[in-house]
Amino acid sequence: MPNVANPLEGKVPVKLPGDEKELLALLDPRTLPRHVALIMDGNGRWAVQKGLPRTAGHRAGIESLRRTVTLGVELGIAILSAYAFSTENWRRPPEEVDFLMNLFVEYAFREIEKLRSQGVRVKVIGCRAELPPTVLAAAERLERETASGTKLLLNLAVNYGARREITEAVRAIARKVQAGELSPEAIDENTIARHLYTGDLPDPDLLIRPAGELRVSNFFLWQLAYTELYVTPVLWPDFDRVDFLQALVAYQHRERRFGGLKFD
Ligand code: FPP
Repeated sequence: MPNVANPLEGKVPVKLPGDEKELLALLDPRTLPRHVALIMDGNGRWAVQKGLPRTAGHRAGIESLRRTVTLGVELGIAILSAYAFSTENWRRPPEEVDFLMNLFVEYAFREIEKLRSQGVRVKVIGCRAELPPTVLAAAERLERETASGTKLLLNLAVNYGARREITEAVRAIARKVQAGELSPEAIDENTIARHLYTGDLPDPDLLIRPAGELRVSNFFLWQLAYTELYVTPVLWPDFDRVDFLQALVAYQHRERRFGGLKFD
């Protein structure tokens, strides 16, 4: 019987070690998630706590992304999907939007060599039509120059919104129906999944949400159906190797049933 008083009982180890070596010893390399999704939240709060402008938090967030990708490569995680800019983030002050766009361009140029040497392939997912030309060009270059990476696929979600993604998929499917290429009866869940930015990729096994918010914020609404959620109060710029390992160890304590029954 699940413990109703504590719905999290058994879902996280009683106490997660705070030491990298101890966490690595607890990790079972055979059952690592194939696909980890990340909501890189808390940059602004991190900066404000330090008396810095919010933009300093975004810059520090880049370091966290680099650390996380590096550990993902070391551990053999196949796919990381990181939410860098949402379709709703355009509502932020124009200076912050400009900063984030420029930061992406800077990231793209500065990181290419490291990503290539790590065997990382980058794919930028999101609505490209509204991206400034410099950002679009940087995204295309990043994708082109990392195309041979085989160790880890890094999906960077830029101008990404799940509702937009699903809307675009529905439009593309409707066009095929209209053109007589597809019958409505032939549309199934796979048809929809294949028309999302994530295409044939497996759904995320684990979603990590730093900064403590208990919501999915228009990220991967379709893909997260059976994803394990891990929320930590740690702000994204502080999210380090130990935090990532703790999330992975906690994930390995989950019992995934995908809506079925537990047979044992
Ligand atoms: C949310 O924190 C974070 C963002 C809107 C941007 C995330 C971007 C980065 C980590 C760096 C950019 C990444 C690339 C690849 C260029 P927030 O500002 O909402 O934080 P808050 O909730 O504390 O205000």
